[in-house]
Amino acid sequence: MLTLVAGALAVIAVLSLPWWLPGRVVALRVRVFNRVNGDEGIPVPGDLVGVERFREVYSHPAAGGRSKGAALSDLFWYWLAPGPELHQEHLEAGERYDAVARATRGILSLPRTEAEELTRRCVARTLRDARGLVRLRDLMMPLWAEFSYELVFGRRCPWAARDLIIGNANDVVTALKGCGLRHMDRRDRLTAYLMDQLPRVRRPLPEGLSAREQALYLQGAFFNTAVVQLSEAMAHLLMVLAQHPDVQARALTSGPRYLDQVISETLRLYPLFGVAHRVTTGDIPLDEQTAIPAGSVLCFNYPEFHRAGFTDPGRFDPGRFDHERSHPDHASARELNHIPFGVAANRPCPAWRLAPIAMRVAAEEILRLYALDSTAAHTRSLPNRGPCLLTPRYAPRSATHRALLLFVRFRDRWEDVWRSLVQLVLGSYMVWDARRQRLCERYFAEDGQPVSH
Ligand code: HEM
Repeated sequence: MLTLVAGALAVIAVLSLPWWLPGRVVALRVRVFNRVNGDEGIPVPGDLVGVERFREVYSHPAAGGRSKGAALSDLFWYWLAPGPELHQEHLEAGERYDAVARATRGILSLPRTEAEELTRRCVARTLRDARGLVRLRDLMMPLWAEFSYELVFGRRCPWAARDLIIGNANDVVTALKGCGLRHMDRRDRLTAYLMDQLPRVRRPLPEGLSAREQALYLQGAFFNTAVVQLSEAMAHLLMVLAQHPDVQARALTSGPRYLDQVISETLRLYPLFGVAHRVTTGDIPLDEQTAIPAGSVLCFNYPEFHRAGFTDPGRFDPGRFDHERSHPDHASARELNHIPFGVAANRPCPAWRLAPIAMRVAAEEILRLYALDSTAAHTRSLPNRGPCLLTPRYAPRSATHRALLLFVRFRDRWEDVWRSLVQLVLGSYMVWDARRQRLCERYFAEDGQPVSH
């Protein structure tokens, strides 16, 4: 009798794993992360800086340090290697930063109609044959690999280059989410290819860099950040459309304005940055008695900021961004807590103009081709890569459609159990390994010598 009860309890424990294990593993990961990394960092918003001063402190001239002096930087440098010391996002202010930022602006400065045309071409090349069960992030990678390649080289992306770019971007984002380890050979192959292709870049590259450094710059900004961010952002947008049939139907028939609102609301609820950190280069006075001292690490929390000041902030409601209709959130339309591309005064995303245009056109084209459905979990970090069912638009739903959606939900729950364990082990290992390698700390200690990975 006792063994029967014990057996039944064991079966219940196993069957209920998806409901309790992933949450506990996430909590444990956070504890491991804090233990290895130390508890540096002032959370903003937090006790010291409330949400009402978030923007002001983020925009303060002394909130400009990027990498030097933050243990957290060792982690990002590790994940973004090779060449984190050339990645625009992680460079300190100075001549090198200015040269790199100028080159990025040049490559990204595409007239709207050309950007729209380029996006349409890339969708046509990469998405025609997609159907059935897909992972949206994987589906999007070839599209944005081709897009970035044409931005940089002004010509169609060869197959071999596309594979190298996807291999690199996938490796970075998989490691960033703790779902896999780094494979530096995949990344190095892209660096070698880019070094070969430098004479074909259509815009001026940053001056004062060696050929290898220029290749690493391109790799960081365009074949890592651009491809990863656009793929993630589109995966979120398509997940939202897949899970809100009313929004999907309206997006199909309304003009571009409605899709722009859907994009804004998607990036409000699912900002690509969880936390952006800055190291203060001087004191930031808060009141007559208090100041944030120089050398502090400020951790700006995007999801928290994006929830503050909105009515029912967890609800998906593109109407918040429709300023022609009345909505309770409009009172503060100019001051909406919405900074999906960062703050203008402190190193905002250089693609803040181009990315939403490209996303809107890609979504229009995809909605013309497919109906989207998904029953998988949609979280900000999207570790499941956005499982989704694509059916050719206007094709009748097959008899297996509902069964497939049930299968997606079931598989997603169980994958979550396995994945959370993988993330715990691999994530902890990488945090430890990054602290051991100290790529950022060594770079500044050794006066800017290139870092190996
Ligand atoms: C929807 C897509 C994207 C979103 C939501 C996004 C978001 C952001 C955000 C929030 C920041 C500022 C973070 C901070 O304050 O530290 C940033 C910085 C940056 N982004 Fe994006 N990004 C996107 C696409 C792109 C693309 C397509 C590129 C192409 C090159 C790009 C390149 C960069 C770079 C280089 C920086 C660093 C800027 C600097 O420090 O000077 N991003 N992005």
